Amino acid sequence: MSLITELESLIPNLQAELVRAFSLQDLEQARVAWLGRKGSLARIMARLPELPPADRPAAGQKANEVKTRLTELVDQRKAELESLEGARRMAGFDASLPGRLPWQGSKHPTTLVIEEICGIFQGLGYEVVSGPEVETDYYNFEALNMPPEHPARDMQDTLYITERVLMRTHTSPVQARSMKSRKPPLAVIVPGKVYRRDSDLTHTPMFHQIEGLLVGKDVSMAHLRGTLTVFLRGVFGAETRVRFRPSFFPFTEPSAEADISCCICNGKGHTGEDACRVCKGTGWVEILGCGMVDPAVFDSVGYDPEEVTGFAFGLGVERVAMLKYGIGDLRMFFENDARFLAQF
Ligand code: PHE
Repeated sequence: MSLITELESLIPNLQAELVRAFSLQDLEQARVAWLGRKGSLARIMARLPELPPADRPAAGQKANEVKTRLTELVDQRKAELESLEGARRMAGFDASLPGRLPWQGSKHPTTLVIEEICGIFQGLGYEVVSGPEVETDYYNFEALNMPPEHPARDMQDTLYITERVLMRTHTSPVQARSMKSRKPPLAVIVPGKVYRRDSDLTHTPMFHQIEGLLVGKDVSMAHLRGTLTVFLRGVFGAETRVRFRPSFFPFTEPSAEADISCCICNGKGHTGEDACRVCKGTGWVEILGCGMVDPAVFDSVGYDPEEVTGFAFGLGVERVAMLKYGIGDLRMFFENDARFLAQF
């Protein structure tokens, strides 16, 4: 770099430094570093004799120009800082104190659980997919083997947009949607919001579910048990015991409900006075519904039930979060109280 270029570069360098000078002390340090007797300008000028005599006058003139400009910059910043200082005094606070970082935020427990569960299934090769919250009667009920007037609909009343369009009551409609848009084999995991006409201490009109579906050749109940056991131990700890009880869902056959050993009392349960409140002394808590995809569902999406089998499961996200983090009141999820949220 020529001496002239070096001299010129002092100007932007000092400008960059001055932006960061917030006190007169900072400013004085910068002035000394650039314009002082041993500063950058002086050091460059000390090399003037190295130049051929003919080039020296031009360099000398450049040095004077740069010096004038640097001095101007320092003076300008000084005026700015002085007026700022005055304003600070008038405002009665010390604006030179470092800023406090606003709260950085944290993930909602619902989000944490969704991410964790989807992460486990992604690790097993499942694809994360989503579906609409405003759903048709067809996907929410009919394609899932719940024709109009089916009694199982009673437990899932919801808000109707029109007679045939509703707020979905579970994530299961995405089973049918996924199968319609893909060819088997397939493995999907579906997190999302669902809606029901429910509102009490342990139910809210909106909550989150995660649905899982695996379809392929020779998929059996053993695969279902193995997969769900791995998953539940991943979420609740390797020591967790898992049991399956026969149950009923219109869209799976056979159907089951899975329980885990109570993660609050370690499955001990106890009775009487010190019975565990979470498992009500039984040592087990119900955690999800599952089963083998009903052939009628395969029929309705155009899969051949003679060719493929599959399993499906669905679970409530808030319920998992309550058990996992020991949250006692479902309403806390939706109150947006920062003291609650900041704990995650
Ligand atoms: N959709 C069911 C519910 O909301 C849960 C479920 C999903 C059951 C998949 C079996 C298979 O209760």
